[in-house]
Amino acid sequence: MAKSTGMSKALAIGIGVITVCSIGSLVLMAVMFYTQIREHPPTSPPTPTKPPVIPTNPPSNLRLPDNVIPESYIVFLQPHLYPSIPNNYTEQSFAFTGNSTVRLKCMQVSKSIYLHAHNLNVTAVEVREAGSNEKLSVSGYKLHHNESDFLEIQLKDVMSGNGTYYDLFTQFEGELLDDLAGFYVSRYTGKEINDEDEDQDQERFLATSLLQPTDARKVFPCFDEPALKAVFNITIIHRPGTEALSNQVGVPDIIKIDGEDWIKTTFDPTLIMSTYLLAFTVSDFAAKSTPSGFRIQVHARREAIDAGHADYALDITGKILNHYENLFGLKYPLKKLDQIAVPDFGVGAMENWGLISYQESALLYDEETASTFDQEWVATLIAHELAHQWFGNLVTMRWWNDVWLNEGFATYMSYFGVEAAGWDLKDLIVLKEIQTAFQVDSLNSSHPLSMSENDVQTFSEIIELFDDITYSKGAAVLRMLAAYITEDALMKGVKTYLSKFQYGNTVYKELWECLQAETVQNVEEFMRTWINHVGYPVVTIITQTGETSQEQFLLKQGEGHGVPWQVPIKYITSKQVNPRDDLLRVNGPVRRPHFQLGKDEWLLANINCTGFYRVNYDEDNWKKLILQLERNHHAIPLINRGQLIDDAFNLARAHRLNVTIALSLTKHLINDTDYIPWESALKNLDHFILMFDRSEVYGPITKYLRNQVTPLYEYFEEYTMNGTIPEEHLDQYTQVDAVSVACSNGLPECITMARRLFNEYKNGTNLIDPNLRRAIYCSAVASGDDNDWEFVWDEYQKATVAAEKDKLRYALSCTKEIWLLNRYLQYTLDPSKIRKMDMASTISYVAQNVAGQPLAWDFVRGQWSHITQEYGAGLISLGSLIDTVTKRFSTEVELEELKQLQKEDDQGLAARALEQVIERTEANIQWVKENKQIVKDWFTAEL
Ligand SMILES: *[C@@H]1O[C@H](CO)[C@@H](O)[C@H](O)[C@H]1NC(C)=O
Ligand SMILES: *[C@@H]1O[C@H](CO)[C@@H](O)[C@H](O)[C@H]1NC(C)=O
Ligand SMILES: *[C@@H]1O[C@H](CO)[C@@H](O)[C@H](O)[C@H]1NC(C)=O
Ligand SMILES: *[C@@H]1O[C@H](CO)[C@@H](O)[C@H](O)[C@H]1NC(C)=O
Ligand SMILES: *[C@@H]1O[C@H](CO)[C@@H](O)[C@H](O)[C@H]1NC(C)=O
Ligand SMILES: [Zn+2]
Repeated sequence: MAKSTGMSKALAIGIGVITVCSIGSLVLMAVMFYTQIREHPPTSPPTPTKPPVIPTNPPSNLRLPDNVIPESYIVFLQPHLYPSIPNNYTEQSFAFTGNSTVRLKCMQVSKSIYLHAHNLNVTAVEVREAGSNEKLSVSGYKLHHNESDFLEIQLKDVMSGNGTYYDLFTQFEGELLDDLAGFYVSRYTGKEINDEDEDQDQERFLATSLLQPTDARKVFPCFDEPALKAVFNITIIHRPGTEALSNQVGVPDIIKIDGEDWIKTTFDPTLIMSTYLLAFTVSDFAAKSTPSGFRIQVHARREAIDAGHADYALDITGKILNHYENLFGLKYPLKKLDQIAVPDFGVGAMENWGLISYQESALLYDEETASTFDQEWVATLIAHELAHQWFGNLVTMRWWNDVWLNEGFATYMSYFGVEAAGWDLKDLIVLKEIQTAFQVDSLNSSHPLSMSENDVQTFSEIIELFDDITYSKGAAVLRMLAAYITEDALMKGVKTYLSKFQYGNTVYKELWECLQAETVQNVEEFMRTWINHVGYPVVTIITQTGETSQEQFLLKQGEGHGVPWQVPIKYITSKQVNPRDDLLRVNGPVRRPHFQLGKDEWLLANINCTGFYRVNYDEDNWKKLILQLERNHHAIPLINRGQLIDDAFNLARAHRLNVTIALSLTKHLINDTDYIPWESALKNLDHFILMFDRSEVYGPITKYLRNQVTPLYEYFEEYTMNGTIPEEHLDQYTQVDAVSVACSNGLPECITMARRLFNEYKNGTNLIDPNLRRAIYCSAVASGDDNDWEFVWDEYQKATVAAEKDKLRYALSCTKEIWLLNRYLQYTLDPSKIRKMDMASTISYVAQNVAGQPLAWDFVRGQWSHITQEYGAGLISLGSLIDTVTKRFSTEVELEELKQLQKEDDQGLAARALEQVIERTEANIQWVKENKQIVKDWFTAEL
């Protein structure tokens, strides 16, 4: 899965009830059983280790028992949906029916079968002995209406163990809801194919699926755990005028059922795979294919295909796929690769094997209206999902506790993948992943990369793991490992790992073993602290003595754990520019590296930020570094220019460094035109703005920022005034920063420019380069009136390209008019105005606006039960919603309100997110108390 939005927010906190489950002896048995099915296909039955007691009680935790193992399924699905409202509109139906026959190997004498089903009406169950086809007598079956989602089948007859095969048949009915999870319905407006009345747009429907992590059970009863891999023979029966897609190649056939025409599409059997990677879509979409060679197709609304919006994705997919085949040393094993742009999709994308689904803005690219960042987003997501075809699909984590093996790798590898599409984004990893992960992981309420299996059982516990730790810390830690054992060794080990465990499931220790063969370093010992413990260290170097120590870095100091990490330290000094290596070991918290600094010499550690840790120095060294930045910032490597700022600001937040040192690191920016230092500073100053934009400190901050950004604005002004952009990708990013900082801090030239371009747009010619639209629309709406707002709202409704729609949707949140903001918040409850998948990010946009913050918070609290009921079941990110809506919180009153919501959230719908924001708010309160005056004085003195 890809993170939910382009804003690099934590993915999702789902709905569900958290309970602590008692784990019985089942765990031991489960271990045996997993070792068993890792071989492909399962061959020999395990030797019985237990006397033949016949279990009939429900399992004591939420994991399936291991008395039977599924090997293959035959699944029929029949969605009754029409692609548009039929002439007799009452005939439109959101029902689907189906049946499934799963072949089971019985490993243990038993009288019960447990599998998963959720929101399905099971209408028939049969069990037969596969060899004789003799029916066993079923005494009953029931759905457990709790979070186990068990479908329990009790037999009168006994199933014998010893690897005997049985066929379990179930017949079922379900509903296609608009809940973005399982098999669900998505809507769009489009024209009827072959319609004489060609101009007539109408509402159109498609059935599509998103099954990760545990929603395959909403489509058909199945053994819905990632290690229970099987072969799936899928058949979809659907309406004429639609095409059905699934993981494998399908062959359509016209059939009649009760005198009605239907199409029956029979798909080739899948490879052995996990349930969560299945995919089904039935739509009247069009497609574009590779002209020759391996079959890659992009499917989307006909209008988008005709306009050429799929061309970019089609062009780069094959390149990235080939690149990975070489990099990983294994061919992509399927006969085809389909990618589909789904109008309603709750996450950025999902890596279903052979049929990858995307939000439209993550797959479609319109040259006319898309920015280069939109294009980068498409390339990044395709690279991420394609990496999953190996990491996750071919080799799968044994259980969700290690989902970082999937997501960390996909995130890390995507930086290599995009290179094949002509993008060099490697340096940006420091902003996109490392600094992002540093933020969450500096809270006590963070979690280790790898959790214990027992702690990850419920839906919420699983879905909570799709967060910045799993994606970004996962990638950052892999990058650190690559630097430690060399990238070459990592890639070699990874090749062995993929080939050894293909079609199987793994735990991370098996990865370490493969990597160990390629290096003299001790991989397991090195990685243990980074994987198993929450948090990361701050390394403090006293340059006068060389004394070096480490401690857990926490925003709120106090109860950190004392576990030391193995910290690889690469450093340079002003005289010694070739990096030196050193390792701070677990069993030696204090160390004296071999350096001797001259009087004016500075030291800089963690070169290129390859290590996942922050660095603090004695104040003297900080001052020397600041001086160096002001004299000639090019002496400090680019990534470190960003990281010094990020470290200093966060060290200051954690009371480990004087806040004026951090602020002084931004002074040289007046001469710096590079993106990484600027963006690092802006991200951190954003915290100051959030803390103080409701107070008198805000004035001096704004003035300072305006001063600092003026040269940068002027540097790009020639481009900006003409509505054009610089050539270099990173310069394009800087230009956007220049415009948005200049405009939002009231640089008059900027505001005039924005108004002028926006007025031209209102008069019918939009000359604003797509790169700058977000910033310019926002600035114009912020300085404009309700007419401007209405204009943008109309444009939003008219726009058919998702990426452009997103820019307009963002701009609508920028108004200062309370009543417009309130109206906009109300719109988020109406899916015909704001799609469900966009609700959380729209509210977050409003909350970012200082005028909208209290409105958004009241709105979320007021609508909490509605939001969680209507939006919580899918992958709507309640967690990231809570996170963004409360970013400004820094008063006791706000803290109390959070604690109140925590009490009301008795179902634990956003438990971890609430814990995290409460911790953050407490830290903020203390920080503001201590720093308000100092900060005010510093900014005032700088003017
Ligand atoms: C429309 O379909 C419904 C359900 O099939 C049927 O009961 C009704 O008679 C139909 N109406 C017309 C006008 O055909
Ligand atoms: C399962 O459903 C398909 C399609 O409706 C049908 O052809 C088939 O007979 C059903 N299988 C059984 C065993 O009923
Ligand atoms: C399983 O195999 C063992 C040894 O071959 C045999 O003694 C036992 O009766 C078999 N059990 C069943 C249920 O077939
Ligand atoms: C499931 O059964 C219930 C009770 O009979 C019924 O109300 C509901 O509509 C059924 N759902 C589906 C999807 O068929
Ligand atoms: C799945 O389909 C293939 C080919 O159509 C067939 O050979 C195989 O037996 C089927 N598997 C099952 C479990 O029916
Ligand atoms: Zn992913």
